[in-house]
Amino acid sequence: MITIKTPEQIAKMKESGRLTRNVLDLMGKSVRAGMTTKELDGIAYEYIKSCGAKPSFLGYGGYPASTCISVNDMVVHGIPSEDVIICEGDIVSVDVGVIYNGWQGDAARTFMIGKVSEEKKKLVKVTEECFFKAIERLKDGTPLGDIGYSVQTHAEANGFSVVRALVGHGIGREMHEDPAVPNYGKKGTGIRLKAGMVIAIEPMINAGDYKVDFMGDGWGVRTHDGKPSAHYENTVAITQTGVEILTL
Ligand code: MF3
Ligand code: CO
Repeated sequence: MITIKTPEQIAKMKESGRLTRNVLDLMGKSVRAGMTTKELDGIAYEYIKSCGAKPSFLGYGGYPASTCISVNDMVVHGIPSEDVIICEGDIVSVDVGVIYNGWQGDAARTFMIGKVSEEKKKLVKVTEECFFKAIERLKDGTPLGDIGYSVQTHAEANGFSVVRALVGHGIGREMHEDPAVPNYGKKGTGIRLKAGMVIAIEPMINAGDYKVDFMGDGWGVRTHDGKPSAHYENTVAITQTGVEILTL
């Protein structure tokens, strides 16, 4: 079921959104070579708690951490670990969700550690651009398929590929609500978005092939070809005239 939020509810989601953004800003300032992904996750946990909010990922379907931290060829859902040490040249995707006053925020950024390859630099840039292409003409009445079309067109024009196995989603009181928001698709297809819908748009872009493998830990998703992958996500409210990005 797709839920339509009132302006008052969207104002509340803006607060959880701001908090989510603040966590990611803190992640960007804290992340450095030599640190484990578990340490980075701990910083997010402490910060979210100190704000009187809840990390929405922790315990979700048994997920054991507050963030997903996915390094290089890990696409998404990397479980923070003492065994994963962040190194110079890595790209590190951090995905975080918070619940504040009963409303969810969900967002992700990919950070570059020190000097990274030209391929990784371009991948991170294009992945961000994919998100902004997706919201460019988005407003009340836009067919959902236009989002995937915009993301896919921009990614493929740059020689990259779009992950098919995972998609964005509606969000509100629950982290995952309808509709599913694929990063691939045809212009003019699907339901029409309406003012008051709130969705998480989250391009996951691979430098190589779109195929992914699911890890034995039940969560991690890696590129099949071992090439790097980047992730960028914001929680976005649809309005009559455009969108309001709640996590930026
Ligand atoms: N932000 C992700 C999503 O949109 C992460 C959820 S993973 C879990 O689906 F850890 F919460 F399970
Ligand atoms: Co999400």
